[in-house]
Amino acid sequence: MAKYEGKPGALIHVLMEIQSENHWLPKEILNAISDRLNVPLSRVMQVASFYKTFSLTPKGRHRIHVCSGTSCHLRGADELLNSVQELVGVKAGEVDADARFSLETGCCLGSCTLGPEMIVDGEHHGRLSSDRVEEVLKNYA
Ligand code: FES
Repeated sequence: MAKYEGKPGALIHVLMEIQSENHWLPKEILNAISDRLNVPLSRVMQVASFYKTFSLTPKGRHRIHVCSGTSCHLRGADELLNSVQELVGVKAGEVDADARFSLETGCCLGSCTLGPEMIVDGEHHGRLSSDRVEEVLKNYA
């Protein structure tokens, strides 16, 4: 962050770098950014909470998103979600103890004909059966 010291215009860039390395933005880091870039904390919080890229809660190194939309639901999304929860060991909205995965649900991911669908780090895995979940997740260390 030293290279951006006293440069308020670098705020988004700094937030993106830290989000990318740390996977979320803890309060103490936001305080440090405010001090070192000379930007009011209220402005830092406003930007950090506006953009979906940034997370103010802990996230894993890999973000899993299981679609819970109607099409995916009809195609077996509940069963898929159960398998993911069992394999990763967390419920939706949580991060595992090793911070390897965080799990989210929500709809719709925009590929309804490919349901049930899971996205990991932006990569779509469509028509995903429960017995293939482990095979997919083992590719994310
Ligand atoms: S309902 Fe799942 S992608 Fe649309």
